[in-house]
Amino acid sequence: KLMDKAMEELRGQCLGCEGCVLGKTRTKLVFGDGNPNAKVMLVGEGPGEQEDLQGIPFVGRAGFLLDDMMKMIDLDRSRVYIANIVKCRPPHNRDPLPEERDACSQWLKKQIEIVDPLIIICLGRIAATSLIDEDFRITRQHGQWFDVDGRRCLAIYHPSALLRDVSKRPETFTDLREIRSEIRRLCPEVYE
Ligand code: URA
Repeated sequence: KLMDKAMEELRGQCLGCEGCVLGKTRTKLVFGDGNPNAKVMLVGEGPGEQEDLQGIPFVGRAGFLLDDMMKMIDLDRSRVYIANIVKCRPPHNRDPLPEERDACSQWLKKQIEIVDPLIIICLGRIAATSLIDEDFRITRQHGQWFDVDGRRCLAIYHPSALLRDVSKRPETFTDLREIRSEIRRLCPEVYE
């Protein structure tokens, strides 16, 4: 599948979005990054300061850690597609409001349709409650697989949470190895 063109068309439609109030305060809209033909998709919460300035997801401190986490399981941005629940930065990095998530969900839904990943990794509670279960408990349910619309979905702690609280890192390393093992089982070509 060659979904680059479809994704660039969708990006073009998304870039001017004013579907919620976040469109009024953003610097740049942060659409997505990585390989639209990937078997594995990572979904974060929403842009922070650096992402808002650069228009690329996960390029600040949390982004460097995410790149390191991917490296630990032999992944990089050419082997995954990365997007966020909301495409525009919430002021002062507050959690995106339910109405902002709802207004933005059409874009992520179309991105997921285009990529058609076998595996979706939710980065943090906001992505997990949006994509897996509205009652998702990140402390209890990180590292567990869920089948959602025929895709294997698992949530790990958000890299920002791992920067704040290093005590969560060992269990996240276990979760990352679980992810690598499921990728090897379902789509070994990712590692070829
Ligand atoms: N945190 C997120 O959830 N997404 C980004 O793109 C950057 C930081």
